[in-house]
Amino acid sequence: MLVYEIMQGEKRIIAGVYHLSKKLGRHFALQDISIQLANGEFAFLVGPSGAGKSTLLRMMYMDDIPDSGQVIMGSYVSTRIKRSTIPQLRRKIGIVFQNFRLLEDRTVFENVALAMKVAGTGLTEIKSEMADILTRVGLYHKRYEFPGSLSGGEQQRVAIARAVANKPAILLADEPTGNLDPIVTREILELLFRINSSGTAVLMATHDVELVRSFGQRIIYLQDGKIIKDKEMLFRGNLRDSISDSQVDHRARKFTDHRIGEDGNGTRRG
Ligand SMILES: Nc1ncnc2c1ncn2[C@@H]1O[C@H](COP(=O)(O)OP(=O)(O)O)[C@@H](O)[C@H]1O
Ligand SMILES: [Mg+2]
Repeated sequence: MLVYEIMQGEKRIIAGVYHLSKKLGRHFALQDISIQLANGEFAFLVGPSGAGKSTLLRMMYMDDIPDSGQVIMGSYVSTRIKRSTIPQLRRKIGIVFQNFRLLEDRTVFENVALAMKVAGTGLTEIKSEMADILTRVGLYHKRYEFPGSLSGGEQQRVAIARAVANKPAILLADEPTGNLDPIVTREILELLFRINSSGTAVLMATHDVELVRSFGQRIIYLQDGKIIKDKEMLFRGNLRDSISDSQVDHRARKFTDHRIGEDGNGTRRG
């Protein structure tokens, strides 16, 4: 059982995976996976190449459906969601990939603005928030440049800015530092920690165990499609001091009404 009581304010499960199994081809890419993430939490999903990390994240942003088991993201449930509702879910979570996936023919500003526009943000608001968003990732001075003229680390910063522009309750990052050198990798991690400190839960997949071990965050170890270890460390005192609880709660509340039950099962309670 998890110890949530030490935190003030209400902790909610904002992402839950329950007994999820998925076959790709003839073998199990994922087998009986269960994890839960609470609002404002940071966790690494670690495992060697082929362990099933990308497959698991894909299930979480509902790009694919489990063979059995269930994914619950906020109030969206994989076993009940309509195909037409999935884009709505995607707009409420941030997603970052190893290969950035920016629009090459759009400027930094436009890449981020487009994500906000799709989520229904008006141009006036986009313009007034953009300085803050791009300053946070250190790229305001490059707002009129195109991705092709930026370094890998800078492109990933743009991708992260785009992913968090709509203030998602959760950010899913699939090997976001996979193409970056060690120094830039650290900078990107620092950025993700800062984003987490401002209230967004983060689940970051990486094959690099050594990289993540030193940070004291929760690490979920995945191997051959199974979770072999998951230290639920966050609520035992590793929560970063700078998290403002009101911010965390506000963001999660918009996304979900799941509360964490005493049994830790994220049972829905009205
Ligand atoms: N489209 C697919 N068809 C068949 N097997 C796949 C497919 N995608 C991934 N796999 C297999 O599923 C397993 C998990 O892959 P993946 O989730 O990409 O792992 P990771 O992201 O941890 O490297 C691997 O054995 C991989 O070869
Ligand atoms: Mg992968």
